Amino acid sequence: MSGRARDARASRFRRPGASPLSSDLPSGHRTGHGADPAARAEALRALIRRYDHEYYVLDAPTVPDAEYDRLFAELQALERDHPGLAAPDSPTARVGGAVAGGFAPVRHSRPMLSLNNAFDDDAVRGFDRRVRELLAESGLDPAQLRYSAELKYDGLAVGLRYERGRLVQAATRGDGAVGEDVTANIRTIRAIPLRLEGVGPEVLEVRGEVLMWSADFEALNARQREAGEKEFVNPRNAAAGSLRQLDPAVTARRPLRFFAYGVGEVRGAETPATHSGLLAWLESAGLPVGPERAVANDADGLLEFFRRIGERRAALPYQIDGVVYKVDRRDWHELLGYVARAPRFALAHKFPAEEAVTELLDIEVQVGRTGKLTPVARLAPVFVGGVTVTNATLHNEDEIERKGLMIGDRVVVRRAGDVIPEVVRALPREHGHEAAGRYRRFGMPHACPVCGSATEREEGEADRRCVAGLYCPAQRRQALLHFAQRRAMDIDGLGEKLVGQLVDGGLVSTPADLYRLDAATLAGLERMGEKSAANLVEAIDRSRRTTFARFLFALGIRHVGEEVARLLADAYPDVDALAGEDWDALAARKAAIQKENARRRARGEPPEPVPLEGVGPEIVDSVRRFFAEPHNREVVEALLAAGVGWEAPGGAAGEGAAAAGSHALAGKTFVLTGTLPSLTREQAAEMIRRHGGSVSGSVSKKTDYVVAGEAAGSKLDKAASLGVAVIDEAALRGMTGEK
Ligand code: IVH
Repeated sequence: MSGRARDARASRFRRPGASPLSSDLPSGHRTGHGADPAARAEALRALIRRYDHEYYVLDAPTVPDAEYDRLFAELQALERDHPGLAAPDSPTARVGGAVAGGFAPVRHSRPMLSLNNAFDDDAVRGFDRRVRELLAESGLDPAQLRYSAELKYDGLAVGLRYERGRLVQAATRGDGAVGEDVTANIRTIRAIPLRLEGVGPEVLEVRGEVLMWSADFEALNARQREAGEKEFVNPRNAAAGSLRQLDPAVTARRPLRFFAYGVGEVRGAETPATHSGLLAWLESAGLPVGPERAVANDADGLLEFFRRIGERRAALPYQIDGVVYKVDRRDWHELLGYVARAPRFALAHKFPAEEAVTELLDIEVQVGRTGKLTPVARLAPVFVGGVTVTNATLHNEDEIERKGLMIGDRVVVRRAGDVIPEVVRALPREHGHEAAGRYRRFGMPHACPVCGSATEREEGEADRRCVAGLYCPAQRRQALLHFAQRRAMDIDGLGEKLVGQLVDGGLVSTPADLYRLDAATLAGLERMGEKSAANLVEAIDRSRRTTFARFLFALGIRHVGEEVARLLADAYPDVDALAGEDWDALAARKAAIQKENARRRARGEPPEPVPLEGVGPEIVDSVRRFFAEPHNREVVEALLAAGVGWEAPGGAAGEGAAAAGSHALAGKTFVLTGTLPSLTREQAAEMIRRHGGSVSGSVSKKTDYVVAGEAAGSKLDKAASLGVAVIDEAALRGMTGEK
């Protein structure tokens, strides 16, 4: 192996250029043929060890990869030219020959235990209570109890045996009593020192977890894919598979890492009295120890750690499946004893499993607002990621094909954090007589499952669509829900159930029909009283007063989201102007200006504004097609006739020219957080835009102001850390001049 295995992690280093240490080396030995090769080799080894430690353990490299590679190559050349210099703990000696006949068994000098699990707060409190009781029973003072909390790494356990500071053997956990000798493979992991710093006791067995970082795992899978080889299911499997390679040269190419979390046999050394102290001690010996750790006094402190880590989990570079609590005083460990194979001094507090297996009962097809057909997996209910899951989106037919799913399959379902559940893959199918007829292939329907019209998949598109447009009741329902949503016309109370009844009962087929509904008709519907009918009529009436941008967004034109709707509303005075635009002429004008701007840029002159910048040909095509459809124009006419309108109709720039508009906030970026006293988020955002400002979802160095209300969250901390100004609603109003 030559050079530093390139991890997915960028090779950023704190101090560019060669380390000052390089110049401390015996000089004139670039090729290794100088006066004292032995001294040069030792110096190079010390340097490479140090760089490995900085890179893999401290996560703070100080030299560029090229410099490291150069030193490494020099050492290799030196050892080749002077075979007498070869040493088993040289960084060049990490990769040895293949193991013949598999891995030899290793009996652990002290058993490798497992941990009891807790899945909720009560179990953690129960653990703490039992520990205190046991201590009291032994005549010890529970008030002195402290816990050490750390992460539960999702990899595989190994024991590393160091004798007089040299790594002599490494073994997997196996059944806890006997594991496998994986020394040759462990030696290839650069995070693991072949030689310890300072401490060189007779025996020190370090216990910890071998794992693969998430980004390295992704990169490995990408390489596997390119090479046409099998991809790994998750980082833990990839780590386990890599460690069990018979050829260490293969393991060496796999980006494995290690975190130490304890010790086994120790002879000839005084070890720290506490677990937290032990971790620090291992760290000072040059071993990687996870940085996320804490000492807590009681169950509340442990739960606080669990919650803090839970929030940060997704941002960690490696996978964890929980946290581990250990009684900090190590002399109390033996005293507390063991139950079966698990110690009473420790507890694993696990996150809810993010993956579970269930049955794919069926695949149903939903029709969306734009006619898009989405296959949805109907699943036998399964508890995963903390909730019961019965559906998961399958996105499109290619996705089903790629995952090779069949109805009747046992499938792995994943739900991590708040993300939408997904079907990850199918388990291998059973074959033979009994399994006959159990599995069924799925094909996307060529007739719309709702209206029976044809479905179409255009060249180059992943989705199949129902061609019927608003004649398809499913699309009509979705179009109405889109129209009524808060960010569009904001008709409170018009939910899914009600829209279903209105469409199915033939009461409403286009958004314009909503404005003809009366309270008496509505009161006759299921689950509608007179009061709620009256409220809905009022909400519909209120929605008549809107903004041009909201109106355009509400129409549900394909590719016209809120942002594009705003751009269009700013560029056109009214619907007629937009619908009547000569799009070809506009495209030609745009192209000409862009060309002119390229020239101006070359001359260092400021560019001319491009009309409808950010509105590309795909959007333009969609807008053009929308207004070319007579039915759509009728709906728009009907809406306007029903009294839907906005301030400053016919104003020069739509919303931007609303009576109260200004350029007071031009060029300023705002972030909203918390609940403002009188404005909703949308209203505040609209107010900011009305005065030329822009609104962003997250705080960055570019943010000018954070507008904070009650119960403002982490955005406020971020603002403070970046020194961004924080204002309240009153100050915002002051800046805009609006009362
Ligand atoms: S301590 C006596 N600490 O969890 C305690 N184990 O169920 C022995 N693990 O096989 C283990 N992170 O693979 C401990 N910080 C941590 C851990 C950890 C992961 C794994 C380890 C072990 C399993 C126990």
